[in-house]
Amino acid sequence: MEGIIDFMKLFPPLSTFQTVLIIIIIIPKDRVRKMLELAKIKKGEKVFDLGCGDGRLVHLASIEHGANATGFELSPLIFVLATFLRPSYWLKGSRARICFKNFYRVDLKEADVIVTYLLPHAMRRVQKKCEKELKKGARVVSYAFPITDWTPIHRQKRNRKKQYGPIWVYEMGKHQSKKTI
Ligand SMILES: C[S@@+](CC[C@H](N)C(=O)[O-])C[C@H]1O[C@@H](n2cnc3c(N)ncnc32)[C@H](O)[C@@H]1O
Repeated sequence: MEGIIDFMKLFPPLSTFQTVLIIIIIIPKDRVRKMLELAKIKKGEKVFDLGCGDGRLVHLASIEHGANATGFELSPLIFVLATFLRPSYWLKGSRARICFKNFYRVDLKEADVIVTYLLPHAMRRVQKKCEKELKKGARVVSYAFPITDWTPIHRQKRNRKKQYGPIWVYEMGKHQSKKTI
């Protein structure tokens, strides 16, 4: 219930159209694989997807990298979709969890890798949260929108032909917030 109230606060005029739009703007699987590769995930590492959509990223992180992966999703309809898709990933060996939760309420201190595909205003809040909570060495991998105050350790260019967005990879301790230097 608390989750639904949080979501309504974030998107007051939530309409079916908005939800359908969010479902459509998920990251293509090829690009998800690239993000996971760039994150250099070691077996058993904790991977959090902040706003996990249908959960494809956390399932692939679990199946293909042996990650301890958790996705957080606050849209009720999208969460239902992710729940519906879960058994097909379980059959492929996924052990990922998907929580119906506002990721701003999640403590990130245990995370080794954070993955995001969020709009710029959300990225600014995520930046502050990461600076407060993430441990040194944790990686933040962002699709389409960067953390503008940080210097990435890697940038994967957009692929116009395939219409893939760019990817930024940051590492805590090496991300050098431009405001603090
Ligand atoms: C652009 S989609 C990305 C989906 C998925 N990560 C992917 O790339 O395929 C962003 C998702 O974040 C979710 N979201 C936005 N704010 C959130 C919050 N505070 N807590 C949890 N989920 C949130 C939205 O409902 C949406 O499903």
